[in-house]
Amino acid sequence: MARKILAAGNWKMNMTPSQAAAFINDNKEAFANDEVDVLFCVPAIDLPAALAAAEGTNIKIGAENMYYEEKGAFTGEIAPCMLDDLGVKYVIIGHSERREYFAETDEIVNKKVLKALEHGITPLMCCGETLTQREQGVTMDFIRQQVKIGFLGISAEDARKVVIAYEPIWAIGTGKTATSDQAEEVCKGIRELICELYGAETAEEIRILYGGSVNGGNAAELFAKPDIDGGLVGGASLKPDFSKIINYK
Ligand code: 13P
Repeated sequence: MARKILAAGNWKMNMTPSQAAAFINDNKEAFANDEVDVLFCVPAIDLPAALAAAEGTNIKIGAENMYYEEKGAFTGEIAPCMLDDLGVKYVIIGHSERREYFAETDEIVNKKVLKALEHGITPLMCCGETLTQREQGVTMDFIRQQVKIGFLGISAEDARKVVIAYEPIWAIGTGKTATSDQAEEVCKGIRELICELYGAETAEEIRILYGGSVNGGNAAELFAKPDIDGGLVGGASLKPDFSKIINYK
């Protein structure tokens, strides 16, 4: 079964609600492509405006983070039922920036992934090594640990719904993309791990994205790799040129 390519944007802390609406409205024709899943994960406060602007188009809107408790005294956090209420069906979990600046651990990531699945929200679970880890030759050990803990307690049926995003930290926002071979090697390793954990069928179905300086010029080569099912795109998803990634063929 062929996996559908997912072109996902991560806006990070960019775009106000009115900028989000204008960007989607101005570019929705250019972003239309039924052969590819198109998703923008946007700041929580932009969600209503982005959802309204994307209505009736092929563009899906997701969140960038979510807490793992249902409600309560967690000042500043977003509960899964709040995303449910808006009809949000995707959420990025465990981005390296959240791990680095907001102290998210593999255990927290696991709780969030489980909670998203419980709510029928597709988690885009991120993993990725630092430059030191790559240079020391421990990339795959580290990624396997992140993914293994991230998937603790997840059934095979739920596992196939998760999207895994491999984002080497040294390639994020640096303009230094992993080569397509480097990206493929790790994405293939992640698929092998999913096969060990859940069997060949789940491994065949699960989507694995590459992220880190993806742009209109390198998307085609990356997405042509057998184990890369699309991209999680930061900077280039804030520009009309994101259409070049969507229409990478
Ligand atoms: P850039 O595409 O800006 O390198 O960011 C990648 C990323 O972190 C997406 O989540």
